[in-house]
Amino acid sequence: MTSEQKTALAGFLDTAGDYLGDGYRRPRENYAFTDDTVGTGDTLEEVAAEICACRSCPLGAGRTNAVPGEGVKNPLVLVIGEGPGQDEDQTGRPFVGRAGQLLDKMLSAIGLNRQENCFIANVVKCRPPENRDPAPAEAEACRPFLNRQIACLRPRMILCVGKVASNLLLGNTEWVTIGSLRGRFFEYPAAPAVPLLATYHPSALLRNEDLKRPAWEDLKLLRSKLEELTST
Ligand code: URA
Repeated sequence: MTSEQKTALAGFLDTAGDYLGDGYRRPRENYAFTDDTVGTGDTLEEVAAEICACRSCPLGAGRTNAVPGEGVKNPLVLVIGEGPGQDEDQTGRPFVGRAGQLLDKMLSAIGLNRQENCFIANVVKCRPPENRDPAPAEAEACRPFLNRQIACLRPRMILCVGKVASNLLLGNTEWVTIGSLRGRFFEYPAAPAVPLLATYHPSALLRNEDLKRPAWEDLKLLRSKLEELTST
């Protein structure tokens, strides 16, 4: 909704309130509304609808459901994984399988969740066959969707989970390990003011318990940066 539409609605509600209050006309508030549509003029819902209709790369042909992402607008954290797996393809929702359940636990350990203060998305929105890594060309085909989502969402921080998503997002031609990316903040070119932190994918933690400790350090780093950003 635009700020003009919101102002008109607020005026109507004020008038209705006056009417219900025996016709007494109260002083009007000076509401300061902002638009829900920002940047490209998109809304998150419009971007999601386009994702669900998209067939512009081969992944679109093999999917059951596209998975645009879910969570709140203006999130504290936008979590970005690599792409939907089987459970996500079946449900149309991101990170709902075993890895997703662990992701939810990791986020909740630092006061985050997709119902209140996070948005969960993926680099590619359709399941790669046999759960293979998304190809760089597929990630590039999908990137405008992610960039438009970021423009709509305006997250305070980005948490990128896994080597695949992190290297694709950072545009690395030679892929590097999470071990060499973690512990410092990056800038995602489409959102240079939003600090991006890379950590292990929850499915890597399910395979290797030893990664839980460094992942926990990353989460604490994320939390302390968030506290710094939200205290100003
Ligand atoms: N792994 C991902 O990277 N994304 C999902 O949505 C699910 C599993």
